[in-house]
Amino acid sequence: MNALHLSVAEFRSLAARMTDLSADLLAGLDGARAFPEVSGAHTTRAFVAPLPEEGLGAAALDALGEVLALSRAPTPRFYGYVLGSGEPVAALADLLASVLNQNVTAWRSAPAAVTIERHLVESIGGALGCDGFTGSLCGGGSMANLMGLAMARETRLPANEAGARPGIVYASSEAHMSIGKAMALLGLGRESLSLIDAGDDYRLDPEALRAAVAADRAAGRTPLAVVATAGTVNSGAIDPLADIASVCREQELWLHVDGAYGALAALAIPEAFRGLAAADSLSLDPHKWLYQPLDCGLLLYRSQDAARRAFSFTGDYAKSLASDPVEAFAFFDESVELSRRFRALKLWLSLRYHGLAAFRSAIRADLDHARNLAAAVSRAGELELLAPVGLSAVCFRCRPGERHRDADRFNAAVLRRVIERGRVYLSNATLKGRFALRACFVNHRTTDRDVAEIVPEVLQAAREVSGPGPPRNCASC
Ligand SMILES: Cc1ncc(COP(=O)(O)O)c(C=O)c1O
Repeated sequence: MNALHLSVAEFRSLAARMTDLSADLLAGLDGARAFPEVSGAHTTRAFVAPLPEEGLGAAALDALGEVLALSRAPTPRFYGYVLGSGEPVAALADLLASVLNQNVTAWRSAPAAVTIERHLVESIGGALGCDGFTGSLCGGGSMANLMGLAMARETRLPANEAGARPGIVYASSEAHMSIGKAMALLGLGRESLSLIDAGDDYRLDPEALRAAVAADRAAGRTPLAVVATAGTVNSGAIDPLADIASVCREQELWLHVDGAYGALAALAIPEAFRGLAAADSLSLDPHKWLYQPLDCGLLLYRSQDAARRAFSFTGDYAKSLASDPVEAFAFFDESVELSRRFRALKLWLSLRYHGLAAFRSAIRADLDHARNLAAAVSRAGELELLAPVGLSAVCFRCRPGERHRDADRFNAAVLRRVIERGRVYLSNATLKGRFALRACFVNHRTTDRDVAEIVPEVLQAAREVSGPGPPRNCASC
């Protein structure tokens, strides 16, 4: 018997413990802290230990209690970053996908999985108004942005054989950091990312874009692509996609839309995303606003040929022997990845279980939560909004009082205190140089009651930071 053998009876028993742990976790979410009371020393003490030479058997699972205790639970009151809430039907599908262990390289390696994923991504494209788009699931928005820009580069300034040549990519100053990272990795260089100052609405101005392209051409540089953001990470601003698409058509530039945070909201409010279907490539993150467990990113594109130009480079051992177009299909011809997990199973099962209407309504609820929070912030004299609320992100801050003239430091201290209190979790953003508290709603568990707690929590934290007595966490603000 192989030393790794596990009997079916043992598997059932371990799986039952896992489901119990998962169900208990879900049962306790309402009362759970939004962030655990934990330190680096604590996690190091708990988990940094030599791996055992002899297996512990079922006792190995005993440590999972501590893993859960020192983790951030997916509570209804977590509003940091852009973090989806981990839909449980999808989580169960992930277990099955791992047991099934398909390698979703090509149909010949994973017939059902490849067929499901191809159909799924095209259906999502269709549901967003991007009929005829195809694509593939990947690790997240950063990978999708990298692949979208690789396609842009290979279409406009081919580099795969002889290496990269200089080309300029345009985006607003609110573009996500993954765009600069992609520029570096693609050999275009971050200096070739032309960041155009977003105005007071935090959107890319098409006229400023047109002028920047003209200036670069006049200076002998080669414009290559535009990245429009459909939901900026800071404030959720949606660039004017239709107008940017016109500039791209007129200037023959590739249009990549970074919709990792926001574009899935087109399921609920398509009117806010006019022009989305004009993209050449489009990044989406089902692990954000389709509530899927990590990881689940998605790159859609209109031209399969462009994807193949960028990514097809197949060793003989992987070449398909089939002539049937379904059976000959290989994701590795259209993606950076070769070995790929069956990510589609969770998304497919979750969408089939709940139906698209349930996701549209969950997204609408998130949009309402953001509007309600913005209204509560506006009503509270001590607080001020720092950006228009375009989607589900709300950026605001405490107005500095007499005792705290440095609004940035004061608000950073307030944020630390909010997190320590553990009731709600907010993250931060910098908007026009100002430190903002930021709540982002992409959480299907959040209720109106949860949202109503945010302003009182922030005001209480502000009082605790302010005094009486020496300010907490705020020695000099
Ligand atoms: C606009 C935008 N683009 C890209 C990303 C990167 O996505 P991921 O974290 O899935 O790589 C994010 C993440 O928040 C984002 O908000």
